[in-house]
Amino acid sequence: MTPYEAIDPDDLYDMIDHFYFLVEKDNRINHLFPGDFAETSRKQKQFLTQFLGGPSLYTDEHGHPMLRQRHIPFTITTNERDAWLENMLKALTSSRLDKDIQEYLFERLKLTANHMVNA
Ligand code: HEM
Repeated sequence: MTPYEAIDPDDLYDMIDHFYFLVEKDNRINHLFPGDFAETSRKQKQFLTQFLGGPSLYTDEHGHPMLRQRHIPFTITTNERDAWLENMLKALTSSRLDKDIQEYLFERLKLTANHMVNA
């Protein structure tokens, strides 16, 4: 059984919308984003669905994620990484996702976020 099968996708989607609501207000990193947070959120829902073992929604529409490469246009130091992770932790801990899924997802996202540091 995949983590995706253990969750209600609505709980994941609401968590991601809340995450970008927080990011949009966060002056440490909001300037990096193109400004259409609904669209960024939509892509993240696709990505995290497949990240958790669900259908490959992201790859079907955008091709291989190559996330590090897609983040090269944005200057991401450990400061931006930490801001991103802090907002993610807030969104996760206030979500309806089970505690064990929150922890599992955060641990994996910490690794991915480290990988995005490019400056
Ligand atoms: C896209 C910033 C980490 C997943 C983006 C965009 C920015 C950004 C500015 C462009 C938004 C857009 O085109 O709509 C950051 C920063 C990070 C970070 C500052 C700090 C470490 C992560 C992590 C993940 C992730 C850890 C893994 C879940 C994505 C995805 C997209 C994206 C899936 C959409 C890519 C696309 O198809 O255009 N990110 N990101 N990002 N990010 Fe991040």
